[in-house]
Amino acid sequence: MKTRIRVKTAKGRKLSSTLWLQRQLNDPLVQKAKKEGYRSRATYKLVDINEKFKILGKGKKLIDLGAAPGGWTQIAVKNGCDVTAIDLKEIEAIPGARIIEGDFLDDEIYEQLKQNYDVILSDMAPPATGHKQTNHLQIMNLVETAYHFAQEFLNNDGVFVAKIFQGGSEQELIKDMRNRFEKVKLFKPESSRKDSNEIYIVAIGFKR
Ligand SMILES: C[S@@+](CC[C@H](N)C(=O)[O-])C[C@H]1O[C@@H](n2cnc3c(N)ncnc32)[C@H](O)[C@@H]1O
Repeated sequence: MKTRIRVKTAKGRKLSSTLWLQRQLNDPLVQKAKKEGYRSRATYKLVDINEKFKILGKGKKLIDLGAAPGGWTQIAVKNGCDVTAIDLKEIEAIPGARIIEGDFLDDEIYEQLKQNYDVILSDMAPPATGHKQTNHLQIMNLVETAYHFAQEFLNNDGVFVAKIFQGGSEQELIKDMRNRFEKVKLFKPESSRKDSNEIYIVAIGFKR
């Protein structure tokens, strides 16, 4: 029988942080990632997306937006992609990936990323506020900027994947995407927590 780890509320630690830590320590995917040498439990979301849609492949030029700590980049490199990774936070070097630290919304950083890609991934998420609608609107701002970037730099037949927190205003975006891609699907990876309202838009076959 597996023992569940309980975490005591240490002095100065908020109850929400204690519960988060307890959940992390007991999460099989957190343990699996550690064992397999991946940097995050989020790694398995890209594994699930790729298993379903086969979006990664040798020589594909790929950008990973919101890449820290680097799990998705590790998977993309492992699948032979030529990867650029960017995040606000520092990402420890990953052999085979070009890493940029900065804000994707910043014009200067945007300039540095300008080149054509076969695959554009966005797992970017703003810090959670505890207020669902605020989280939804903030992530939509990131996704819309990523989509704008995709329209400029995605190669013909390219793929765009982005995380959203469902909340209503994504409908307009999805409608627009349906005119630009052959196929647009909403996908909840098996590895995505059931109690999270995150879902991924997977858009395949960009029509340039
Ligand atoms: C869920 S994590 C990504 C996990 C990653 N896919 C992995 O497998 O390790 C979301 C990331 O988005 C980043 N992020 C949020 N807003 C950003 C922005 N404006 N520019 C760049 N990165 C951003 C955060 O710093 C955070 O590291």
